[in-house]
Amino acid sequence: MRSDGRSPRELAEKFGRFAPACEQRSPLYGHLARAAAHDLDVAGLLAAAPTSGLAHPTLLFAAVHDLVLRGEAPELAAWYPTAGGTRSLTDGDPWPVFRAAVLQRRAAVEECIRTRRTQTNEVGRSTALLAALRLVERDAGRPLAWLDVGTSAGLTMRLRHFRHDLVGDGVVSASLGPADATVRLRCDVEGQPPFDALPEFAWRAGLDAAPVEAADADAAGWLQACVWPEQTDRLDRLRAALQVAARDPVPIHAGDAVGDLAGVAAQAPSDAHLVISHTWVLAYLERDAREAFDDAVASIGADRDLDRIGMESGGIVPGTRPDEVARSWLGRTTWRDGDRHDAVVAEVDDHGRWLRWGVGPR
Ligand SMILES: C[S@@+](CC[C@H](N)C(=O)[O-])C[C@H]1O[C@@H](n2cnc3c(N)ncnc32)[C@H](O)[C@@H]1O
Repeated sequence: MRSDGRSPRELAEKFGRFAPACEQRSPLYGHLARAAAHDLDVAGLLAAAPTSGLAHPTLLFAAVHDLVLRGEAPELAAWYPTAGGTRSLTDGDPWPVFRAAVLQRRAAVEECIRTRRTQTNEVGRSTALLAALRLVERDAGRPLAWLDVGTSAGLTMRLRHFRHDLVGDGVVSASLGPADATVRLRCDVEGQPPFDALPEFAWRAGLDAAPVEAADADAAGWLQACVWPEQTDRLDRLRAALQVAARDPVPIHAGDAVGDLAGVAAQAPSDAHLVISHTWVLAYLERDAREAFDDAVASIGADRDLDRIGMESGGIVPGTRPDEVARSWLGRTTWRDGDRHDAVVAEVDDHGRWLRWGVGPR
């Protein structure tokens, strides 16, 4: 019996812990996770993951969703709204079909678990990012050189192509972006974010440990498989954004947020104002690596004026507290003539559905 956190029993326990955490957002995954918690054959497939940390239920569910979206598990599609399915848990129990489908395609599922990592790119964060970038641009008075760290497929970097509607009291109060955009974002807003124009970019680049090439059908397909089955709006938006991204290439460098930051930032033209952003990236790094990232940005800031924009949870955005990890913040750190200033500009929803401009931690 292996004792590295990947014994069938330990993996089944992971499903048991995952079920209550996911069932609000995905009743299907909640139900399947509860069943997998008592099924060592299915839960044990996760042992194919290279490390215990990677052996997470979401990886197995994404591997199966990938098959469903590719049309390779048609008997399961009826349970997946993202594949046009209309059956719900009140219509019956999907577990026997799921179990049989997974075990029949065991080799494909294990191969996916062995070689893939769950990966996301939340387009909805673009509107809050837009407001922060516009704030920086207005202050800097010149176009921006934007480096997005942990950018995934770099979808938010295409925000000029999206339609952004700010909504206050149920009414659209301001809109930016093309009226005929295929990606349409609504953000409920309190306060007065700077929302007078789309920011201009003299240069854009992304950096990611596992970049996703939007034009690569296989990579783009995996990103879609990592969306949960009830999130049809999110999937539609992701697909539309991937199409936009394929038409608007941005260089995305494969590399580390800390070790490769300076090298990529050095490519930014010196007559543009450098902005380094990170949205739900540092949350996945160890504390030491987060501190090293902070130091890496600071050492660039010692040499040139820049802004750092972070959208992350409490304790990760500079100036916020770790005991507020359940809340998410939009933070801005400026370096001017080598001097650093941290500010929290808004409280945000983690998927960018709402924004409270001017609200910071108390
Ligand atoms: C949760 S995703 C967020 C993606 C995107 N920023 C967004 O908001 O949708 C985290 C991203 O960080 C990347 N990442 C994780 N650790 C990294 C590191 N050390 N260096 C660079 N990228 C990293 C992952 O590959 C992934 O694309």
